Amino acid sequence: MSHSARDAGLKLLREHAFIDGKAVKGSGGTIAVDDPATGETIGTVPDLGKTETEQAIAAADRAFADWSGRRPDERAAFLREWARLIDDHAEGLAGLMALENGKPLDEARGEVAYANGFLKWFAGEAERMLGETQDSPLGHVILTFRKAVGPCALITPWNFPAAMLTRKLGPAFAAGCTAVVKPASQTPFTAIALVELAHQAGLPKGVLNLVTGDAATIGGVLTASPVIRKLSFTGSTPVGRILAEQCAPTLKRVSMELGGAAPLIVFADADIDQAVAETIKGKFRNSGQTCVCPNRIYVERSVARDYADRLAAEVSKLKVGNAFDDGVKVGPLIEDKGIDKVEDHVAKVKAAGGEILTGGERHDLGGRFFTPTVTFGGDDALFREEETFGPLVPVFAFDTEDEVVGKANDSDLGLASYLFTRDLDRAIRIGRRIEAGMCGINTGLMSTPVAPFGGVKQSGYGREGSTHGIDDYLDIKTLTLKLG
Ligand code: SIN
Repeated sequence: MSHSARDAGLKLLREHAFIDGKAVKGSGGTIAVDDPATGETIGTVPDLGKTETEQAIAAADRAFADWSGRRPDERAAFLREWARLIDDHAEGLAGLMALENGKPLDEARGEVAYANGFLKWFAGEAERMLGETQDSPLGHVILTFRKAVGPCALITPWNFPAAMLTRKLGPAFAAGCTAVVKPASQTPFTAIALVELAHQAGLPKGVLNLVTGDAATIGGVLTASPVIRKLSFTGSTPVGRILAEQCAPTLKRVSMELGGAAPLIVFADADIDQAVAETIKGKFRNSGQTCVCPNRIYVERSVARDYADRLAAEVSKLKVGNAFDDGVKVGPLIEDKGIDKVEDHVAKVKAAGGEILTGGERHDLGGRFFTPTVTFGGDDALFREEETFGPLVPVFAFDTEDEVVGKANDSDLGLASYLFTRDLDRAIRIGRRIEAGMCGINTGLMSTPVAPFGGVKQSGYGREGSTHGIDDYLDIKTLTLKLG
């Protein structure tokens, strides 16, 4: 058990929101945040509502002219200083995240580095906001500049409490936008600690505000506000639809990173050991609670059973436990309903004639722990539309390329996909045919600040990270110059 990371995390725990550079407790109730491993309350955050959300929006509005008017290199310098402080507090941030989210400590450490990568990357992008010049057919010269869209609302999920925040704030600040952040109620403390470090790094008051409380109430105020010019949301498809609808009357810029039901396809020519190892890396990240997790595995029939048996053998070795225990690879799920869903999906595989190769039930540790599970056969239809969001890997056999591409694409969702083959021709051919925003070829991990991240179909729109990640925070301003 690593007590030092846990203790360092507790030192960063703050039980307040941030509005206009000040800590805010509110006058209403509080929301308890628990440790998913034990169910014990680790702290509370204020249950803020309409009034405080409006105050946060007003603060972001007041701060906008000054912040967006600063030179890009000044904003870049701030992002670098914030990143330096995050590096200095990396162990505490990882401990805090492991405590409130339950992800194994090493993974939490990895997420802090991943999260900080967005700030470092977008510090560079701030300095590369290039405009264009063009001769017009009307005889004019056209100059374009890129300008911050305005105050933004950023709504972040519980599964990556740091990285989803910095993936939005990095480009927002680089562009010159101010922000009101609403972190998930299950994991607000990592976000609050990051906001505190941003202020220590010299961020002017009002540029970054954070409100805690009921998601529907706060989301309703943010989306209705004409001051907020952009909403970025990471979360479920049903909630994304509601938010997009609420943004329509004020015609806000909207980007949505929503659910996925990623297919992972293994061809018989693949390196099966590599495919097994990469499936585990992708699937068990955050205990299976990742939007880009492989949700359904299709393996060419001649190697399907061999792959499934080897996968089950490796999965059965994964240690389940508390985030702070040594060697733990799979933590608790965030909520009881997460466990119910995995159990329901396992039951449906069994009912459809699938075999349980390992796991298949709640873990002996009880609470929100589920035994890592591999199944073989049954019906894949459920997994085309519903994310399990837990430690279950359902494997199905396929016979032809067209059949498997048809199955991969027979889903309303299209975030990530994965493909294992040694045939380069096939990799590119199928990689391009799969209807998903991203396709990992011979890898189960593709998230990095430098790659565009985002989906198609009901998985949302907009791209985060990469050189494209700043675009949604910028408007193009055109100057047309008649030369004398
Ligand atoms: C997510 O699950 O929404 C994000 C995962 C990632 O950034 O890789």
